[in-house]
This record gives sequence, C-alpha cells and structure tokens, in this order.
Amino acid sequence: MTTITSVAEMQQWSLQHKSAGRRIAFVPTMGFLHEGHLSLLEAGRKNGDLLVLSIFVNPTQFGVGEDYADYPRDLAADGALAAQAGVDVIFVPSAAQMYPKDYATWVDVEGITEVLCGASRPGHFRGVTTVVSKLCNIVQPDIAFFGAKDFQQLAVIRRMVLDQNMPLEIVGMPIVREADGLALSSRNSYLSPEQRQQGLALSQSLALGRQLAAAGQRDSAIILAAVRAMIEVNPEARIDYLQICHQLSLQDQTQVDADSVLLLAVFLGKTRLIDNCFLLTE
Ligand code: PAF
Repeated sequence: MTTITSVAEMQQWSLQHKSAGRRIAFVPTMGFLHEGHLSLLEAGRKNGDLLVLSIFVNPTQFGVGEDYADYPRDLAADGALAAQAGVDVIFVPSAAQMYPKDYATWVDVEGITEVLCGASRPGHFRGVTTVVSKLCNIVQPDIAFFGAKDFQQLAVIRRMVLDQNMPLEIVGMPIVREADGLALSSRNSYLSPEQRQQGLALSQSLALGRQLAAAGQRDSAIILAAVRAMIEVNPEARIDYLQICHQLSLQDQTQVDADSVLLLAVFLGKTRLIDNCFLLTE
C-alpha cells in the first residue's frame, strides 16, 4: 500500500494504470474509519483491479461554527485498517493543495440540495459536490462507493454524476449499524454514554415508522407524529428535521408509497446525527 499526498502524483498514478486497462475503484472518506467505511472498501476491493481510498477532511463542506477543527482524525489507525482492507493507495491531500489561494470553481447541484440537510447546513452540499468532483478528476475512478446513511449526499452525487456526464458508476452501500441499532458515524465518538443511549431512539423510531407502514398506515403525518414522540422523550434529543420524502426528488410526501424514505437529523447535545430508512421497501 502506498500513501500519496500530491495531487499531481495521484493523477499521474491513476492515468498510468487506466491506460494499462486497469479498473479503479474509489472510496472517498474524511477518515476516522469505521465498519461502515470498511464495507465500502470491501465492495471496492471486489469491484476494481485497484482500490484507492481518499482521506480528506474537506473544509468547504463545514459551515461556520461546525466541527471542522474538532472532526476526529487518526491517520495511523486509518492506515492500518486500509492495509488490512487491501487498499492499494491512500490519497491524503492537504487543504492547500485542494484549494490553493485564489481557488474559484464550485460545483452546485440545485433543487435537491435545498431541503433536509441542505436547509439546515447552507453551503454543505456545494462543498461536498465540489470536493467529490475534484477527487474524481484526480483519482479517475471507474466506480465509487458511498454509504446510504448520508442518503441525501448519495442522491446529490448521483445527480451531479448524471448531469455532468462523469464517466463513473456510483454505488450506494447499506447503512452499517452497531448491534444495538445505532448507525455508525465518525461523529458517534463525540457522544457521552447518556447521549449514546438516547441516540438509540433514532434507529428505534425508524423501526417504528416501518412497523406502522407495514401495518397499513399510509398517512405521513400520523407516522411522523409517532416517530417524533418516540424521539422527544429523550431529554438530550432535539429534532433538526424529520420528514418522509420521495427517494429521488426528496420532496415531502403526504402519503407513503414504495418510494418513501423516512429521514431524520437529531442533535444529541451538540452532536448532530442523521439516519434514514425506506418505509415499505428494503
Ligand atoms: O461522506 C463523506 O465522508 C464526505 O462527505 C465525502 C463524500 C468524503 C466528501 O468529503
């Protein structure tokens, strides 16, 4: 396994291997790897001749007052996990290389970025799409893997790749959870033991939503009220958003159907966690 920190070197490596007919699988991350990332790497290993992992805590997707400075980082542990996962190259660029002085170009997907996390975190998706586009131009992947916990991010990236005619396949991978249901996230490391316990309400309330839908309930307002009540009994939990949306348009749905996704973002203390599930389908 090689670590590359230079943008030019990474691009040269990729172009060289691609011209030799090798298929590059790519897993972009912000590091502090957990089992969720490892599931992406495992899929990448199976789907490419070469596997590239990027680790870059992207400053442009964090808003003022968000956790950019505190975002957990552990390159040594990430390196060990990446080696076990069969990664060929870890790409770790600096912020100065990715965004040199006078950097001026942004990728902005309209519409679906303005709701849910986009409404709560203005500018967040512009940072995500800009960096993913740049990383793809540098790494030149044939296929790239993203987790479904960031449901909206996955939808936005799919839209960007389609609209920009980017020559790669995007694969969404299922959410990986702890045994008690908490969706894995690097931000879980911020939670106190009490907050972590209360955070179980996220996955439990999603399960309640699915149960109600499975029992025939189609009225979104009724499902949302039941889910809200289950979360709000936890004193440290503050709902940022709780919505039932169409999986592609991300517009609110008043009636549940096979395209309905229940999405939520909840603060536990200062930590904001997101989770989601389809209501009727897997
Ligand atoms: O999901 C993430 O870790 C980040 O948003 C991504 C896609 C690596 C872009 O910085």
